[in-house]
Amino acid sequence: RAGALWGGRFASGPSPELQALSKSTQFDWQLAPYDIAGSRAHAAALNAAGYLTAAELKGMLDALDALERGVADGTLTAADSDEDVHSALERHLMAIAGPELGGKLRAGRSRNDQIATLVRLYLRDHAGVIARLVVDVIDAIVAQANAHPTEIMPGRTHLQHAQPVLLAHHLLAHAWPLVRDLERLRDWGVRAAASPYGAGALAGSSLGLDPALVARELGFDRTTENSIDATASRDVVAEFAFATAMIGIDVSRLAEEIIVWNTREFGFVTLHDGFSTGSSIMPQKKNPDIAELARGKSGRLIGNLTGLLATLKGLPLAYNRDLQEDKEPVFDTVTQLEVLLPAFAGMVATLRFDVDRMAELAPQGFSLATDVAEWLVKQGVPFRDAHEISGSLVRFCEENGLDLDQPTDEQYAAVSPHLTPEIRSVLTVQGSVASRNGVGGTAPDRVAEQLAQLTERVRHL
Ligand code: ARG
Repeated sequence: RAGALWGGRFASGPSPELQALSKSTQFDWQLAPYDIAGSRAHAAALNAAGYLTAAELKGMLDALDALERGVADGTLTAADSDEDVHSALERHLMAIAGPELGGKLRAGRSRNDQIATLVRLYLRDHAGVIARLVVDVIDAIVAQANAHPTEIMPGRTHLQHAQPVLLAHHLLAHAWPLVRDLERLRDWGVRAAASPYGAGALAGSSLGLDPALVARELGFDRTTENSIDATASRDVVAEFAFATAMIGIDVSRLAEEIIVWNTREFGFVTLHDGFSTGSSIMPQKKNPDIAELARGKSGRLIGNLTGLLATLKGLPLAYNRDLQEDKEPVFDTVTQLEVLLPAFAGMVATLRFDVDRMAELAPQGFSLATDVAEWLVKQGVPFRDAHEISGSLVRFCEENGLDLDQPTDEQYAAVSPHLTPEIRSVLTVQGSVASRNGVGGTAPDRVAEQLAQLTERVRHL
């Protein structure tokens, strides 16, 4: 059958129902440039092993150039009868190079080692793109932290006021997970740098081709160790899906805070007009759609990961057609992140913080009660007692509608003789924040140090 990669042993062609089910060109066509790069490298290996003369290699490379141009300008496309990108490109190559030369390219390779290689090429490229976009989000967070070196906000646990913290400290707590995500992608890159080309269908090639030559040509560090594993495993794809889903989740957590901060009740941030949306009926609305899409898409990325893992579970060695289902999940993840991250970075970069409101709320909810207890410890009171005394002071203030620094000297003394008037010295948010100067703490000097560390870590990636 003209154009198909198989058919010799079949009396009839594929049914239209099979064709419709089997066809993958609607999504794997985007691997065409990688397929052609693989073919160039494979042609070089065939030449090195004596299966293509120098003239044939030249003819093959010219034909592959023509094929690449045709794909790039859209004159060469996949037909409905093409099973996948490999079949479609081979059909075009035969037309360009003629069946005599064109028919020589397939020796010693299989779509099984090809596809395993091409997916890695695609993922390695896009891991680079996504990493750069994550760096842009980190840069936007860092710029906001830099712009607010001493501003104070209410720090929360259980979404309740806990202790005052620097806004910069809180923001950087969203940047560090993204730094680890970048490091995770880099570590993934080490495992993704092995080339499966040469593994053949599953058992390797008998033609004496050099897989290392192909690996080098395609920019890999090395070749895979086991031809069965090379064609049957997709842990590299699944790990990519995890690393990218984690990026989605880390971005989503900041997104959720921005959504909450943007409510009237919080009033911590104002979104830039260019990075917020309106309502078709309520003229006053300004909605945090970018943050909501970040939150929503992270669910989709988790689905891509879990769907892929479910596909892989229980697959016997070696290649099974199920593995064709590995591509759409990660292609979708890549597409989503590549549109989400730039919008997200822009939203973060243009956020305006209402620092006065944050500062005003920071001491509320008795968030300095820990400072009272720790001051007592410094006066020699055991922490157990200090915790009790501070708790009693909170109860007294709550019952009398006072803040912690508002009781009279007599009222303090009535709560506990340890509460001398000097207690007032630690009852400011600035004092509280400055006092938390242990490593990784929220004191301004420590946060400045942390900012420098983070910038350095990103620079070394
Ligand atoms: N299109 C397939 C995939 O994406 C590769 C082809 C292998 N097909 C086969 N019948 N061995 O995994």
